[in-house]
Amino acid sequence: MSRVLVIGGSRGIGNNIIKEQLSLGRECVSVSRNGSGIHDNNLQEFNVDVISGDLPDIDNINALVYCPGSIILKPFSQITEDDYKNDFEINVLGAVRCIKKYISIIKSHENASMVLFSTVAVNQGMPFHSSVSVAKAGVEGLSKTLAAEFAPKVRVNCIAPTLTKTDLASRILRNEKIEENIANKHPLKRICEAEDISSMATFLLSEKARSISGQILRVDAGMSTLKI
Ligand SMILES: NC(=O)c1ccc[n+]([C@@H]2O[C@H](COP(=O)([O-])OP(=O)(O)OC[C@H]3O[C@@H](n4cnc5c(N)ncnc54)[C@H](OP(=O)(O)O)[C@@H]3O)[C@@H](O)[C@H]2O)c1
Repeated sequence: MSRVLVIGGSRGIGNNIIKEQLSLGRECVSVSRNGSGIHDNNLQEFNVDVISGDLPDIDNINALVYCPGSIILKPFSQITEDDYKNDFEINVLGAVRCIKKYISIIKSHENASMVLFSTVAVNQGMPFHSSVSVAKAGVEGLSKTLAAEFAPKVRVNCIAPTLTKTDLASRILRNEKIEENIANKHPLKRICEAEDISSMATFLLSEKARSISGQILRVDAGMSTLKI
């Protein structure tokens, strides 16, 4: 049995993960505020805000992917305590809430795993990222801790993408010139697409990743580790 719960399946990377899982013949459940626009008998959907709403009861899932996140970029002089609280809430507490709700069901199945999302800006210091980097550092710590706590039943891994072409990044990737400038800052000279990130999630959820847990996978066009 393989049935994947994607929190945040309506758009972006999570939407792509659902499409990849369905194409592999797996069942999916999507929880987000809006619909995914995907029509498939193997997809069940719930429209819920994971911060303010009641999480639905869901049976028979062996995997959870938590996608909600934020990119609030401000100089330190302008960023507020509320910005830090909001980032912590959606990135860390939202994930904690979902994992607490579903862990006992996930644990009871074979090839149980979870995927969470960090950002390149945790490993590589970047101006204006103080709030999101604090929150995502929390996600990385949570991922490693839970990987240890849930072993050997559940593998937990975390993907740390660079800027990726989704709705979340659209305020930054405003036009082709900006895209070109940002691509050129990456050693691989490209802007990541949603499928560059979702394919890593699909791998991590699969049996092929059965020996991988507690890892932060940096899918960032070389940004955090290469200097060329
Ligand atoms: N894109 C990037 O440049 C980038 C870079 C580094 C890290 N990341 C991380 O990668 C992850 C996925 O990013 P993405 O670009 O795919 O984000 P996205 O396009 O904003 O999609 C986020 C998904 O989460 C859902 N969501 C957000 N808030 C929610 C809430 N309160 N309750 C329920 N669902 C909620 C959204 O659906 P609804 O709006 O329908 O609820 C959507 O389906 C995030 O954690 C992000 O921080 C992204």
